[in-house]
Order: sequence, then C-alpha cells, then structure tokens
Amino acid sequence: MLKPSLKEAKIRTKKEVLTKTNEYIVKHDLKKLGKDKTYYVKTYGCQMNEHDSENMKAILEDMSFTESKTMEEADVIFLNTCAIRENAHNKVFGMIGRVKTLKETNPNIILGVCGCMAQEEVVVDEILTKYKHVDLVFGTHNIHRIPTLLEDCMNKKEKQVEVFSIEGDVIENIPVKRDSKYKAWVNIMYGCDKFCTYCIVPYTRGKQRSRKPEFILDEVNKLVKEGYKEVTLLGQNVNAYGKDLDLDYGMEDLLRDVARTGIPRVRFVTSHPWDFTDEMIETIKKYDNIMPYIHLPLQSGSSKILKLMGRRYTKEEYLTLFKKLKQALPYSSITTDIIVGFPGETEEDFEETLEVVNTCKYDSAFTFIFSPRVGTPACRMQDDITLEEKNERLQRLNKLVNQYSKEANDKYLGTTVPVLLEGPSEKNEDYLMGYTDTMKLVNVKGDSKYIGKIVNVKITDVKTWSMDGEIIE
Ligand code: SAH
Ligand code: SF4
Ligand code: F3S
Repeated sequence: MLKPSLKEAKIRTKKEVLTKTNEYIVKHDLKKLGKDKTYYVKTYGCQMNEHDSENMKAILEDMSFTESKTMEEADVIFLNTCAIRENAHNKVFGMIGRVKTLKETNPNIILGVCGCMAQEEVVVDEILTKYKHVDLVFGTHNIHRIPTLLEDCMNKKEKQVEVFSIEGDVIENIPVKRDSKYKAWVNIMYGCDKFCTYCIVPYTRGKQRSRKPEFILDEVNKLVKEGYKEVTLLGQNVNAYGKDLDLDYGMEDLLRDVARTGIPRVRFVTSHPWDFTDEMIETIKKYDNIMPYIHLPLQSGSSKILKLMGRRYTKEEYLTLFKKLKQALPYSSITTDIIVGFPGETEEDFEETLEVVNTCKYDSAFTFIFSPRVGTPACRMQDDITLEEKNERLQRLNKLVNQYSKEANDKYLGTTVPVLLEGPSEKNEDYLMGYTDTMKLVNVKGDSKYIGKIVNVKITDVKTWSMDGEIIE
C-alpha cells in the first residue's frame, strides 16, 4: 500500500524531469483480463481530468474491457475525481455510497477511486477507514499502472492503494480513446508551480512539466490526418509552457508551430495573466486558426486579496493586460474565473471585483465561493465572513456577470459566424449544437450531414448562455 503524503506533495526540487516513452505496458496475459466485462469511468473535474479519463478508457480497452452505457451495469467503475472545492468532494463520497448498494447485489464489481482526490492524504485516510468497499485507489501520476493494479484487485482479490506524491515525470506512451471525433484535448504540460494560496492543484498534480515540442506536434499532426477540426492545448498555466525545458522555446513558438500544422482550430487553456507575453498576443493575431478566445482568470479585483492569494499581479496589471488584449484582438471573447469570500475579503474588496467586472464586461465568468482546502496556506487564514454573506456576494456578482454575458451575446444578433457543429443539441434532437470561434454555444436546425463541419451560421436569437441560428450554405 502506498498512500499519498501531503508533506511530499509540497516539495519542489531541481531534479530533472524524465520523458518516458515505454513506461506503459500491458503484459500479454493481461490483454484478455477484461474479456466479457465492462467498465464505466465517471469524470468529475476539469478538462485535464476529462482527458485523463480518455486515457483510462483506452487502457481498459487495451485489456479487452468494453464501455458500459450505465454505471449500474458495469463490472469496473472508476470515479475520476476532482479536489478543487468541497462540493466536488461531497459528490464523490455520495457516489461511493451509491456504489456500495450496487456491490451488495454484485460483489464482483471493482470500484476504483482515482484523480485529484486520490492524491489527497486526508481523502485516502477517510476511504480506508470509512469506505471499505473501495477496491482500488490510484493517483494522477500512475494512470499507466492500471493494468497491473487491476490484475491484483481482480485475481488476488486484494485492495490496491498506490498513489505517488512525487513531482512527476512525463509519460508519453499512454493510449487515448477520445470522446469526440472532431475536437481533441492535447496536454502540453502537467502540474503547477504557482502555489496560489487557495489552490490544491500543485499538490495533486505535481511539478510543472512541459511536454517536449516534438511529442506535442506529432500528436497534433496525427489528429490532422485523422480529420480532427480542433485541438485544445491543455495546462494549468499554458503561458508558462517551456519555461521548465532546457530549450529556447515558449508558448508563442508552440502556438505558431501548432497553427502551422493546418488544424482548422487551435485553442488553449488556462492562461495565467502573469505569463502572458506580447509575443503570444502577436502570434494569436497572426494566425487565423488560433481562436480569438482567451480564458483569463481574475480571481479577485482587489490587489490586497490578490496578494493574499499569491496571484503575482495587481488589479492594475491585470487591467493593463486585459486592455492590451482587447486592443490587439478586438473581436476576441474573454472569460474569467472569480472567487468570492476569500479570507479577509471586505465589502470594499468585493466592490473592487465588481468594478473590474464592470470594466472588462466579460463574455462569461465562472464564479465560486472560496472553499478551504486542507494543506493549502489559505486554509489556515482567519476567515470571518459568514456563509450568508459569501452567498450574497456570489449572487450580486452573478447578476452582473450574467448581464454582461447577455450584452456580449447581443452583439452577435444578425451576424454570421463560423460554428464547428459537434452533434445533436442536448435539449432538442432536431437541433445541432456547436461553438463559434469565440466559444459561444450555438444551436441550429440542421441535418446530421453537417456534424463535424465548420459552417457559417446566421445568429437569429440570443440568450444569456447560448444563441440560436440558421446555417448559411
Ligand atoms: N490553473 C487555473 C485554474 C484552475 S482551477 C488558473 O490559474 O487560472 C479553476 C478555478 O477554480 C480557479 O481559477 C479558481 O477560480 C477556482 N478555485 C481554485 N481553488 C479554489 C478554492 N479553494 N475555492 C474556490 N475556488 C477555487
Ligand atoms: Fe491553482 Fe494557481 Fe496553479 Fe491555477 S495557477 S492551478 S489557481 S495554483
Ligand atoms: Fe479538479 Fe484536479 Fe482539475 S483538482 S480542477 S481535476 S486538476
């Protein structure tokens, strides 16, 4: 049993990050372990977590498991968890409880808990004491070990806990089963070294490790050949890409080279304002296939709170960058993340956040109430704001954010925009859904022959979170 250690997860050394190209192996006798058995992977977290699930699915299929449509029918259930806020935790523990009932009728079900919560010492301790029906716990650093771990669970009937609290390496040969035939996630870096005081990610994902450019470009070139229309370059701070490599090659170089592969759409998330360079802005402007959409987390509009958060920029610096982006890329849409109720946030601090929202008029914003995470510095900060007050601030913020989302969308009414149509709309089967270059959700009436194509759409109706349109032939 190898449990996670918070103490070790905090450590950052100068140790070289290794790129490993043959770490993932499925021994011959494990290739049939999943014959006549099914699996279900449930994803709770961010895009990176979703992409990890795509890797897990491919590994399970390498072992002959097939995907089950429902969790209830599956022989192997993986909960790929997220640790970012308390409510993510609660959802997972609720689900672990539900699987216990399933196991009462089918004791052969294997329940695995993985992802960011599995990297938390407190969580694994809780699982081991209170949730004895969990058969397997593995973390974000050892997804490639699934075949061996699963074999030990199934054949030896032993509980397996293996979580590495290491800085991490880069493993290049893990297979992937992508959810979409048109849009693909491509990791460009793992981990995070920013250690914002509220955030658990540096502890659950390890040291910042950029993938070498040749591996990323190889992956994108393959996607182009397979007919993919869009790649999203993934990392916690994509703008810092390459800084940890011994190459003179940064995000602007990677963006340029990915754009030159000819993939119709290039996106990237998430941009930390600290590392946004003028060269990057120039590159986005220069290449038509780099989408005019930037997610630029603000977190707070008060420089005092930003300092307490360890965000490394002031309100003024953020606003300067924002204005520079809008000037260089006037058509672009910019979205953000905001936390309310951080320890020490006064009404005045909160009003500064509202002020920034009033200035930036974001296309949309993800807003959260501060959630203390065990092991982070902010968890130990004195927090005098009542939950009622935090809720009230969140509501005031959301009202403003929604008002600007609607205003931003209103500007699209009557215009014609390119939309990559992905498939049937969730609400109405007669409609197709897709996103504009600026990441606006659009529903159109249309034949399935348009799925997977970038089509021109005239916007006929506008709501706060989506738009309706007509395909223009
Ligand atoms: N790497 C990204 C953020 C990833 S987490 C960045 O730096 O921008 C996504 C969002 O979750 C963060 O932007 C933040 O707004 C929110 N978040 C992270 N930790 C949180 C916490 N402890 N409580 C509330 N919200 C949090
Ligand atoms: Fe978390 Fe900050 Fe790293 Fe983003 S940059 S993942 S918020 S520590
Ligand atoms: Fe959650 Fe881990 Fe992503 S904590 S947001 S799944 S990096």
